Amino acid sequence: MNSIPLLQLALDYISLPMALAMAVKVAPEVDILEIGTPLCKSAGLEAIRSVREVCPDKLILADLKTPDVGALEAQMAFGAGADMMTVIGGATLATVEQALGVARKEGKEMLMELTGVRDIISRARQWRQIGVDRVVYHREWDEQAAGREWGENDLVTVRQLIDMGFKVTVTGGLTVELLPFFQSLPVSIIICGRGIREAADPRASARQMRLAVAELWGPSSSSVSAHRDVIASSPIGDAAAKAIRHGVSEMGLMLAIDGRECPGCDSPRRICLGTQTTIQCPKGIRADDVVRGLSQTLDPSGAFGRVSDDSFFLDPGQLADLSRNRVIDLLSATGNALRQLGCQVDINAGIKAANLALGNF
Ligand code: 5RP
Repeated sequence: MNSIPLLQLALDYISLPMALAMAVKVAPEVDILEIGTPLCKSAGLEAIRSVREVCPDKLILADLKTPDVGALEAQMAFGAGADMMTVIGGATLATVEQALGVARKEGKEMLMELTGVRDIISRARQWRQIGVDRVVYHREWDEQAAGREWGENDLVTVRQLIDMGFKVTVTGGLTVELLPFFQSLPVSIIICGRGIREAADPRASARQMRLAVAELWGPSSSSVSAHRDVIASSPIGDAAAKAIRHGVSEMGLMLAIDGRECPGCDSPRRICLGTQTTIQCPKGIRADDVVRGLSQTLDPSGAFGRVSDDSFFLDPGQLADLSRNRVIDLLSATGNALRQLGCQVDINAGIKAANLALGNF
């Protein structure tokens, strides 16, 4: 099964304080924080150190786009706290080998940045031979400004790179609307910079991006999504989704709906569509711990999972056997997982509300 691509936020700032403020705000919704090339140039290694300090649990990539002196630049990046660094595709093989050697020794990652590389596949063959396994496929800012759109030829090249054994990062003016274009490819990392940073609410925008990634690449994508659509539009699917939403609310949990007002479950303009509900973890609780708790009592059917550091989803549409009892099991397992983590959730109130929403089912 393909895994869900990681989401990387590019901090392409000149001002370190602005970069730090954005990192802190958006970190819970992304997997990797990128010290963008302009920030590497303006604030240097201090930028890596500072982001590491304010976000100790996040993966950090230093987008140095190193052209020469590979070992030293890799050492500098990793020494300052980065987990990954980039070397520019035009660098000589000697530079690539030097940076890769340091990355391996330190247990870190080196990625080849394809910006400006014209003969990508023949260069990629050489990189594979020396053991490189990660590349960043890029639509450059200046090309984008000059009118370059993503096209079929990009998909073909990315597919070739994946078939050669590379883990491929894609980037370059990506937005939530552009994500479906890449859905057919098992890409490894998706970078978004301006699309998140310049949004009115960057954290909500990152969350929306992450949800879209989970929806497009997650277990509910492709063949399963057809099944899920049928379930979602069936009376039992609709009632099950409503039961989960009412149940978790009555337990005292918050649904995560990006700050928008929802007109209610019975309204045609309701925000939740399909059967998936995203739930905000109570303060101090990590989504990974809730999911781990759920896995102890329920099979990993895709009916629950992590959305971000502090939110998780429940999706009764993914239950192997969608019945009243299974929906109630999902709800009470969630309550029990949270109780194990020390939260005072009212499981009985949740089950009562869910039973009411399930009506005759
Ligand atoms: C520019 C970069 C950017 O970090 C990358 O393109 C992501 O930013 P955006 O989503 O704004 O394009 O490396 O060379």
